[in-house]
Amino acid sequence: MTDVRTDRLPLFPFRSPGDDPFTPVTAADRRHLDGPVTRVRLPTGGWTWLVTRHADVREMLRSDAFSADMYRPGFPLLRRLPPQSPEARRGGFIRMDGDEHVRLRKMLTAEFMVKNIRRIEPLITTVVDDALDTLTAGDRPADLIAGFALPVPSLVICHLLGVPYADHAYFQQRSTVLLDQSAGPAAVRDAMTGLRSYLGHLIEAKRTSGDPGDDLLGRLVSDRVRTGELEIGELIGMAVLLLIAGHETTANMIGLSVLLLLQRPDVWQRLRTADDDTVNGIVEELLRYLTIVRTGLPRQAVRDIDLGGRRIRAGEPVTALLSLANRDDTTFPDGDTFDPYRAARQHMAFGFGVHQCIGQPLARAELRVALARLARRLPTLRLATDPAALPTRDNSIVYGLAELPVTW
Ligand code: HEM
Repeated sequence: MTDVRTDRLPLFPFRSPGDDPFTPVTAADRRHLDGPVTRVRLPTGGWTWLVTRHADVREMLRSDAFSADMYRPGFPLLRRLPPQSPEARRGGFIRMDGDEHVRLRKMLTAEFMVKNIRRIEPLITTVVDDALDTLTAGDRPADLIAGFALPVPSLVICHLLGVPYADHAYFQQRSTVLLDQSAGPAAVRDAMTGLRSYLGHLIEAKRTSGDPGDDLLGRLVSDRVRTGELEIGELIGMAVLLLIAGHETTANMIGLSVLLLLQRPDVWQRLRTADDDTVNGIVEELLRYLTIVRTGLPRQAVRDIDLGGRRIRAGEPVTALLSLANRDDTTFPDGDTFDPYRAARQHMAFGFGVHQCIGQPLARAELRVALARLARRLPTLRLATDPAALPTRDNSIVYGLAELPVTW
């Protein structure tokens, strides 16, 4: 691996200017990037190649020349990792490669297929309508994040997994720490231990009961654990991953989408009467334009490879910057403009390649139902604060708003 002087390199992740949550990388930060595949400095003291063009990110994410295993020495980390026992890493297949990753992912693919998600759409609709009933029965102004954006996907994933929603404060708090790049190693270790222990007890109760239940965790106990295909420690790690990924991401997408749509009254009104295809199109463009996984996808080269005109050596760290790739003008003309009627299908807000988001049909259904029903129910929804004063989640791997005060 090449010896690199990092002190002159631009620091990554970039910060959005506080008053503009829709600009993932400022013009000034873009100017500091020395080409489409360029080195940047990491807060942990190391560096990473940053890949920013749509075509290069696709090539990178579908190539087997890169590992997603964050425990490899030299992997591009945004914060220091706590020393963790191999047991604590089990089941977290988002950070696994090859057969190990495929084996665990395959146990979930059918669950999240479009046809199965269609079956739970009535549940999503009920959850959204109930949340709107509670919101409209409460005081105004109200915080749309705490009162709608966060409970909707949390309730849905709890229902799917078979996790009691009553425990949401416990798992949401720990999940926020795990996504916070500024959290110290001890806090990260405690949050992970807490979540594993919580889900471990829940899974153990299902395993020892005569009827593990018809929810996803119950079925994995009956169909995979009891048959010896899956170990309890692995199932716990999978449950942690699904619980975190299943609510934080969609919640932040709902919050940020509403903020954007409130600044586009034409689209907000259109959502109220639009057919499914139009709503789907608006959701795709929101996913592209907002690309909430703003810190990108970290990988490490396992062999020498050429990418975007650069030679990347085995062992070197590489980060796919989805937010810029999704604004690449060659794929999305005038990419910095939100255009709800463009064909945004090729966006990579859900990643690409073997690790591409398994929950995307669920996330799409939640976004479609939540945004359309919110617009229909509260057509006069408006911000109840100065947009420049909105607190953003600048330190989180999943970008979004911490609060969104609204009235109607
Ligand atoms: C708008 C919402 C969402 C966004 C933007 C999003 C984004 C992503 C991205 C970018 C990846 C790729 C990570 C990588 O390659 O390193 C990913 C993977 C993943 N997502 Fe999502 N996600 C969303 C919703 C969900 C939901 C609702 C679930 C729950 C079921 C979920 C579960 C997962 C899992 C399990 C993986 C790992 C897949 C693998 O490694 O094979 N996501 N997501």
